Amino acid sequence: MPAQFMGRSDHAHLAMSAPDFFEVTYRINPWMEPERWHPSARQLSDEARHGWQRLKSTYERLGAVIEVQAPAAGLPDMVFTANAALVLDRKVLLARFACAERRGEEAHDRAFFEALHARGVLDEIVEPPAGMLFEGAGDAQWDASRGLLWVSHGQRTSGGMHRVISEIYSVAAEPLQLVDPRFYHLDTCLCLLPGGEALFYPPAFSADSCARLRERIGPALLIEASSEDAHHLAVNAVCLGRDVVMCHASASLRAVLSERGYRAHVVPLEPFNRSGGGAYCLTLRLNLRTRRHPIPGLEAAVSPKRN
Ligand code: ARG
Repeated sequence: MPAQFMGRSDHAHLAMSAPDFFEVTYRINPWMEPERWHPSARQLSDEARHGWQRLKSTYERLGAVIEVQAPAAGLPDMVFTANAALVLDRKVLLARFACAERRGEEAHDRAFFEALHARGVLDEIVEPPAGMLFEGAGDAQWDASRGLLWVSHGQRTSGGMHRVISEIYSVAAEPLQLVDPRFYHLDTCLCLLPGGEALFYPPAFSADSCARLRERIGPALLIEASSEDAHHLAVNAVCLGRDVVMCHASASLRAVLSERGYRAHVVPLEPFNRSGGGAYCLTLRLNLRTRRHPIPGLEAAVSPKRN
């Protein structure tokens, strides 16, 4: 464990992967247009490095400790660490990517988490059952206010993964179906805030899933993103306490967040938007806990909240 992280369990511990090899060379979602990347590749790569550094220093200014995963040539999307795994209660559930283009990331991700395990940062590393696809924290979000995990399917992650995840972490999990290829990961259309609010983009969800979200979260805590905000990946935001780090926010979204007591920190990430990614995609939280103040040895006595 890094010395600066000792005794700071209230601070966010994050993983990011350096953007050295980031580019758009293939198309696995509608945002990606290699033919529009190539003509300005050099400039876009520079902008990507700059934006990524700004994102990292914004997190650091907010008190986060960052582990930087070494990038690998030929794996441009490895920069999106949210997809590498879900990490909860020091247990890592590794991803199994849906697209062949990203499968090469899996071995690097495993090695990265094994190194964190060897340092005592993590307890356990598991993988999805045979035949099941799972794209990590991009498709699974811990809802601390309701004590459950929201797990999406319909685009990248297999249906039924919510049951697997519920077993692995002994917490309740709710499935959500994604129906729009532009909103191919849950983090592009749902952002949970620590006050219990949820910023979401309704057209990304099936009618049933949208109804379930509305019912579980309730009108007072739901914030609907406009199409303009959603199509600039504003929902793909990272919340550290009352600070919301995002790549875009309209004046009205900023106003809503500020009325609710949040501070928006906008870090432009345009080159990553061209791959379908924003702030959340570039970030993986390593120290989420399902119980707020875990006391070693007492965990077994605290039964997980179930539906
Ligand atoms: N180009 C990447 C893909 O399609 C972007 C991933 C963004 N990550 C995320 N968590 N939404 O897989």
